[in-house]
Amino acid sequence: MSEAGSLSYSDSIQEAGGAMSRFPLIPVQGVPLMNHIADNWDSVRAFEPHPSDLLIATYPKAGTTWTQEIVDLLLHQGDPEVCSRGLDLLKVMPPPRVIKTHLPFQLVPEGFWKNKCKVIYVARNAKDNLVSYFHFDRMNQTQPEPGPWDSYIQKFMDGKRYWEEREKNNILYLFYEDMKENPRREVERIMRYLDLSLSDDVIGRIVELTSFKAMKENPMANYTFIPMVVFDQTISPFMRKGEVGDWTNHFTPEQSRLFDEDYGRQMKSSGIPFRANI
Ligand code: A3P
Repeated sequence: MSEAGSLSYSDSIQEAGGAMSRFPLIPVQGVPLMNHIADNWDSVRAFEPHPSDLLIATYPKAGTTWTQEIVDLLLHQGDPEVCSRGLDLLKVMPPPRVIKTHLPFQLVPEGFWKNKCKVIYVARNAKDNLVSYFHFDRMNQTQPEPGPWDSYIQKFMDGKRYWEEREKNNILYLFYEDMKENPRREVERIMRYLDLSLSDDVIGRIVELTSFKAMKENPMANYTFIPMVVFDQTISPFMRKGEVGDWTNHFTPEQSRLFDEDYGRQMKSSGIPFRANI
């Protein structure tokens, strides 16, 4: 996998060694961010993208790694051997640079919109996203302790602003569930958005290489290169289940009802397809 440059937290994780402690999140304009992003907020905000930069924006655990892998393979004609890695590479990477962020729309550096960069946003069923995040917080030793599931559910995520801005800013808005339902169709959508045209064979190969099974076995995609003191994959593997609807194994009917009510309230009038019950 060619690791994207990042306006996110994963790079410091990759560089981390030795014993880890769980860091508290620091609010920036009301959004809780990892401390090294919050501490460097002025430089993050002032980041000047190149018009050819591609931004992959997601709420964490929505399918970031999967989308990155598809994009990397599309940009390298399906050749998995072509790799580059790390935040420092962002400055020297040849275009198009692929940059990943978990920042909500309003915190994304203005330059991305001003320079009309391509942006891919990936959304996922909120309940599945939350379940995935819960298990990630358990194993990621740098994240705050998730605590018990029952109170964790209070956390809420949405990609409403990206949805509302998608036409004005030419954002390719993808759904994890669509990628599961018909991976080839979604790979082809990404390909067209990137103005690429690859043969059926290459597309087929990319679909195979980015299946959950292939990525779970791929050491460059399954994050086993991150030390166990950071990602303790004995607690929960990064490539955990990769399914739609795992939330039914975690939410009680009452938790699900309350969550749907809250989701309905917060997403009201956004026009975003309601996928909470998939
Ligand atoms: P689960 O925890 O539900 O298994 P992110 O990359 O944004 O952190 O998202 C991680 C989630 O995407 C995990 O979900 C992971 O298993 C899933 N995932 C990663 N690659 C996938 C693939 N090729 N197919 C389906 N799901 C994938």
